Parts: sequence; structure tokens; C-alpha cells
Amino acid sequence: MVYVHSFPSVRTLAVSILAAASSCYAELVSTGLSVTFNDVHYFVSPYASGQVTTSSISALSKVPSVFGFKPVTVVQGAVTQAQLPALLTTWASTDDVFQPAFAQAVFLAGSNESCIVKKSVVQGVSTLVIPLDDTGVPNGPYFLETATGSLYPVYRLYEDFSQSFTESLLQKPDGTFQILSAQIPHSATLTIGVPSRLYYTKTAERPLAGVRIGVKDIYSLSGTRQSNGNRAWYNLYPANNVTGTAIQRLIDAGAQIVGLQKPSQFANGETATADWVDYHSPFNPRGDGYQDPSSSSAGAGASIASYDWLDIAVGSDTGGSIRGPAGTNGVFGNRPSHDLVSLDHVMPLSTALDTAGFLIRDPLLWDIANSVLYKENYTSLAKVQPEYPKTVYTLSFPTTANSPANTLLINFIGSLAKFIGATAVPLNLSNEWASSGPAEAGNVSLNSLLNLTYPIFISKEQVKLVREPFYRDYASVHDGRLPFVDPAPLARWAFGDSYPDTALDDAIRNKTLFMDWFNSKILVPVPDPAKCSSALLLYVASTGSGTGTRNRYISAPTAPFGFSSGRISVLAEVPDSVYPIGQVATGSSVTQHNESFPVAVDILAAKGCDGLLVKLAQDLSEAGILQVPMVGGTITGGDILMKRRAEEMGITELRYVG
Ligand SMILES: *[C@@H]1O[C@H](CO)[C@@H](O)[C@H](O)[C@H]1NC(C)=O
Ligand SMILES: *[C@@H]1O[C@H](CO)[C@@H](O)[C@H](O)[C@H]1NC(C)=O
Ligand SMILES: *[C@@H]1O[C@H](CO)[C@@H](O)[C@H](O)[C@H]1NC(C)=O
Ligand SMILES: *[C@@H]1O[C@H](CO)[C@@H](O)[C@H](O)[C@H]1NC(C)=O
Ligand SMILES: *[C@@H]1O[C@H](CO)[C@@H](O)[C@H](O)[C@H]1NC(C)=O
Ligand SMILES: *[C@@H]1O[C@H](CO)[C@@H](O)[C@H](O)[C@H]1NC(C)=O
Ligand SMILES: *[C@@H]1O[C@H](CO)[C@@H](O)[C@H](O)[C@H]1NC(C)=O
Ligand SMILES: *[C@@H]1O[C@H](CO)[C@@H](O)[C@H](O)[C@H]1NC(C)=O
Repeated sequence: MVYVHSFPSVRTLAVSILAAASSCYAELVSTGLSVTFNDVHYFVSPYASGQVTTSSISALSKVPSVFGFKPVTVVQGAVTQAQLPALLTTWASTDDVFQPAFAQAVFLAGSNESCIVKKSVVQGVSTLVIPLDDTGVPNGPYFLETATGSLYPVYRLYEDFSQSFTESLLQKPDGTFQILSAQIPHSATLTIGVPSRLYYTKTAERPLAGVRIGVKDIYSLSGTRQSNGNRAWYNLYPANNVTGTAIQRLIDAGAQIVGLQKPSQFANGETATADWVDYHSPFNPRGDGYQDPSSSSAGAGASIASYDWLDIAVGSDTGGSIRGPAGTNGVFGNRPSHDLVSLDHVMPLSTALDTAGFLIRDPLLWDIANSVLYKENYTSLAKVQPEYPKTVYTLSFPTTANSPANTLLINFIGSLAKFIGATAVPLNLSNEWASSGPAEAGNVSLNSLLNLTYPIFISKEQVKLVREPFYRDYASVHDGRLPFVDPAPLARWAFGDSYPDTALDDAIRNKTLFMDWFNSKILVPVPDPAKCSSALLLYVASTGSGTGTRNRYISAPTAPFGFSSGRISVLAEVPDSVYPIGQVATGSSVTQHNESFPVAVDILAAKGCDGLLVKLAQDLSEAGILQVPMVGGTITGGDILMKRRAEEMGITELRYVG
């Protein structure tokens, strides 16, 4: 092979330098603008929503401006001037982005008035009402660029004090993403921006219009780099150019994705704080604020328990990664039936076991979100009166009310059974298996059959699908070096390496034996959609005794072997949802006070009955048996201890002795 080196001629070189100077070096791009308005932090999107005629701008001389941007309001629809005060008052109370000061200039579309009117409208704000021709600009607050007449959407900026996010994102009008370039005063946290809720109208096609969602940082979003909880991974690979099916369905339904959220590394379980080496574990806001948030959808759980400006978090559950964070942070969460939605462009832990689900506070929104994510694989029962099963199995439930948590759990089972007209039946799964397990299983106990099944699935699959290509690519650009990986995934991968590849075939066989038995003997699908499941099954998710404070020194991680109630849905492919049922006061080693920690249950139904579990949460909430969880230090609200201000007690300066 002969290489011919060709150099550009002097002339073409000069031309290309000139071209660079005129195009490349002149590429000045706005990434948006941050402002404060009456002490509220806002971000001005760089993507205009529409235009006003520049002739109307001269009237706005009294409206303040920064860099030529003025706060204004757009009102669409058949609204008369007389109706404006009531409308804008409603907006100020229902939208966290709008404030009355935006109403100093109101562009009113569809008005039959053609002249600018000065009128006092809302909460003492003197308002100019200006006719607007453009009926395509949505309602709400904007920043008007006076030089061009362009209207730019407004985002309110919030601090991610629970450190739940890895990236703050701006969703572009085309549904792809860029970093939201804003930072408000706070220590070592990201700033998250949320658009005004007034811009969005929910429709049958867009039932999630304006719903604000955080996404676990293992889902690819077009225009973002992802970390999978590993810094070397984040830096190694280029930005994604595709959004996977699951998240694209949410975007197509109108959702606003506001950021990527912390997973434990490669979605393997990690315990705060020792295991979280590359990224710091998010903070669970409940109780003393220092309980392990569980994992791997840790950012999802902590954020939904912390922020009323965030509606939904998308997690993933392979072995408990949604259910754990839901239980300990005291919010709803669902591990769905397996295979309800494609997980293309999502980092795998085990393709046989991975599922995508939500962490959420509002059970009504839960049903809508599930309908969007799982489409034809989800049957909403929101408008149906289900015939709930007459049997509610319990696994290892308390039988004596000898503690506040046990009292709550016993009362809950009693209320649930009464509400749906069922009988609560304690079940011993090992004994059921011993008496009705399949002959092919060869008389082995459930513990022996399934002890290794889960860790073999996750380690064998993730080593092949994730570790091998990652190590190879990293080595190729680092002269053969290995990347840093946290202790937990390393321990699990090493466990997988110690077994032959045939172990995965054993795992599939064992899972199938268990699944087929469970789905024909314990939770049997019923063809009638209003019934769906032969029974429900409950176990305890969280007893409120604390998951362990995050300042403990813990032992080295091991592979997650063993069979427990939490593995049932994983291996049998059935839906398993977490309901927070209350909270109990438990002594905190941090505060030396009794603090309130969530108590939660897991509830399972037959495969495909995901809608039944959401409908039951809705019905129990309506009946007052469940309480819709709130954000804050407790599931009924209240401030988060770490965030209290000394000024409240009249302490206005730093105090040191001496
Ligand atoms: C504008 O509409 C209002 C309310 O519909 C009506 O009362 C008024 O007469 C209209 N004015 C003109 C100039 O058409
Ligand atoms: C994304 O990038 C890959 C690799 O460069 C390319 O093969 C693929 O066609 C791109 N997809 C889209 C939708 O741009
Ligand atoms: C969900 O829907 C897809 C596409 O229709 C299908 O391939 C898949 O088997 C379904 N999953 C379940 C569990 O029904
Ligand atoms: C189930 O029953 C067996 C034998 O009676 C017992 O050893 C085991 O502890 C029971 N399991 C649970 C979870 O109660
Ligand atoms: C199955 O195991 C049980 C206890 O482990 C034992 O009592 C029984 O004899 C075994 N049955 C067969 C057919 O091996
Ligand atoms: C499960 O597997 C682990 C690791 O191999 C082993 O230490 C343990 O004894 C096993 N337990 C059962 C019940 O087989
Ligand atoms: C499968 O089950 C057998 C018992 O029948 C057990 O010895 C083996 O460890 C199991 N393997 C896996 C990977 O689940
Ligand atoms: C915490 O609650 C227990 C039980 O009600 C009580 O005995 C104890 O005094 C409380 N501790 C504090 C610090 O309030």
C-alpha cells in the first residue's frame, strides 16, 4: 500500500481560514438567559413561541427590562377585559411560574378592542392591555424581546437541594434536549427549570401536556450525554442522537422532561454513602433527612418526595429499583408486568427482568402516565368499577399490634379487605411450593431453586451487554487501562465471572418453573378485565424504622443472592406496586428526636393487571384509607429539617464563639 500525502494548496487553505472566520467564529448562539423578577429566579428560553407587532412595543416604556427583554403576559381565548382580573388571579394561584407582575403588559388575543387600554387589573398591578393578532401563542408569562417582538417562554428555576439530578435539561420545541444553562444560589447542586403550566392544554392526544418529569440517567435522550451513574462512561461516549421508545412516548404525549436523575451505578443496588463513589447518593427528605434513599432509582424517589414542582419520575426496576426508593421515600411506585414497553436505548441490567415504571404522588396522574407509557399493554380502569378479588394474601405480615408500624399495617389490611369485600389470608410461599410445586423442580425448596437466579441474570447479562463493550472502548482510548467502577457493580460482575455461561440457562429454567407455578397457582389472571386477578398479594415494603442512616460504615457489597418477597414479581413477571400507608415516629440517631418515617406496603396482582393496582390506589385514596403523599419532611408535608432558616428565630448572622 502506498500512501499519497496530499496537502491543500496555499490558496484553498487561505479560503478555508476565511470561511472559518466568517462562519465558525461568528457562530454566536444564545443558550437562554437567567433573571430575577421580584426575587423569583427565572430562565428565559432561547426558543421563541411567537411574535407581537413591534409597533405595540413602544407603549411598554414603563415596563422594566433586562438586555432588552420585558416581562409580559399573553391571554388567548374569548376573554374580555372585565374577566382578566379573575383569570390572572387564578393563574397566579395555580401556576408556580406566573406572578401578577407579568401582567404589567397583557397581550390579549381574540379581543374585539383594537386600541391599547390602560387599566388596573390584578393585585394592584397597573396593566396595559394590548391587542394581539397571533392566536397561536399559548397563554402565560413571556419575556418579550423588544428589538424583535419575539416572545420567549419563561421557566422558573429551583434548587435541586436533594441532589437528585445529574443533568438539568431544556426540552427543545422539537422534543430533543440541551443543557439548561442556569445556576441559582445554592451549594453543590444543580438548578432545574420548569416551564409555566399555563402554556399547556391537556387533550386526548396529549394527556401529559405540561407534566414535568425527571428521567433516570440510564435512558438515552436525544441531545444528551448519559452517565449510567459512572463518570468515565459519561465522558467516554458522545451525546445520544436518539430518544428511546419509552421516553419518546411521554414526550409525544406532551410531557416536559426537566432533567436526568441519579441512578446507583449501572442500576445496581448501592447503599448510601459508602457505595456511591462516583456520584453522591441523593438525600431522602423524610424524617431526619439522612436515611438511605434506597436505589437504584434513588434520584427518582428522593425528588418526588422533595419537590412539588416535579410531577413524575421515571425509574426502572430490575430487582427492586423502583419499589425500594418508593417505600423509603414514601411515594407511590410501580414495577409493571414485564415487557409492557420496549426498553430500546435504555442501559440494561438484565433484559429478562428490566422494567420501566414511575415514582409519583398523585394516583390519578399515575393511571394517565401508565396509559401513555404502556399503550395497548395497559388497561386503564379509571372509568370502570372493578370487581376486586375476594382473596388478599399476606406474606410475613405482623399479626399483633405491638408497635405503631405493626398497628398501621394490621389496620391497613383490615380496611383494605373490608373495602373490597375480601378475606385476608396469610400465605407461606415455601409451604405452598412444597405442596403444589411442579414435579420438574425435583423437590427442591424455593430458596434452593431461586437463591442464585437473580444474581446470575443480572451479572451474566450486564457483563456481556455493558461491561465488555465499555471496557473495550475505554481501553482503546486509554492505552489498555480500566475505567473506575464502584464496588457494588464490581462485586456483582465478579460473581457472574465465577460461574460458567451455562448458569444463565439454569437461571432461565428456574425462573420459568417458578413463574409458571406462581401464575397458575397463586395470582392467576382472570379473563374478565374488570376482575383481572384471582387474588392480591401484600408484603411489607417499609416499616418506618428507618432504612439506616447514611453515615453508617457498612460492609463490602456482595452479589444479591437469596429469595425474598421482593423477588416474586421480578421472577414471575407480575406487577408489584408500592403504596405509602402512613408514617410512624421513630427515634433518630441524628436529631435525637422522634421523627416521622414512612410505612409502606407492596401489593401484587396477576400479570397484566397493572391497571387494577392503580385503580385500587385511587379508590383507597378517595375512601380515605390511603393518603396521597405530600412532599417534605413527612408524607403529610412539613418542612425538611436541613432547610430550616435561622432567620425564623431571629438569628440573622453567622455566630462563632470568640
Ligand atoms: C366587544 O365585545 C363585548 C363583549 O362581547 C361587547 O359587549 C362589545 O359591544 C364589543 N365591542 C365592539 C366594539 O364590538
Ligand atoms: C445516530 O448515530 C449513529 C452513529 O453515528 C448513526 O448510525 C445513526 O444513524 C444516527 N441516528 C439518527 C436518528 O440520527
Ligand atoms: C406489549 O406490546 C408489544 C407490542 O404490541 C408486544 O410485543 C408485547 O408482547 C406486549 N407485552 C405484553 C406483556 O403483553
Ligand atoms: C414457612 O413455613 C416454614 C415451615 O413451616 C417455616 O420454616 C418458615 O419460616 C415459614 N416462612 C415464613 C416466611 O413464615
Ligand atoms: C421432598 O422433600 C421433602 C422434604 O424436603 C421430603 O420429606 C420428601 O420425601 C421429598 N419427596 C420426594 C419425592 O423426594
Ligand atoms: C445462596 O448462595 C450463596 C452464595 O453462593 C450461599 O452462600 C448460600 O448458602 C446460598 N443459600 C441457599 C439457601 O442456598
Ligand atoms: C437452579 O436450580 C437448581 C436447583 O434445582 C440450583 O441448584 C441452581 O443453583 C439454580 N441455578 C440458578 C442459576 O438459578
Ligand atoms: C420518642 O417516643 C418514645 C415513645 O413514644 C418516647 O418514649 C420518647 O420519649 C420520645 N423521645 C423523644 C426524644 O421525644
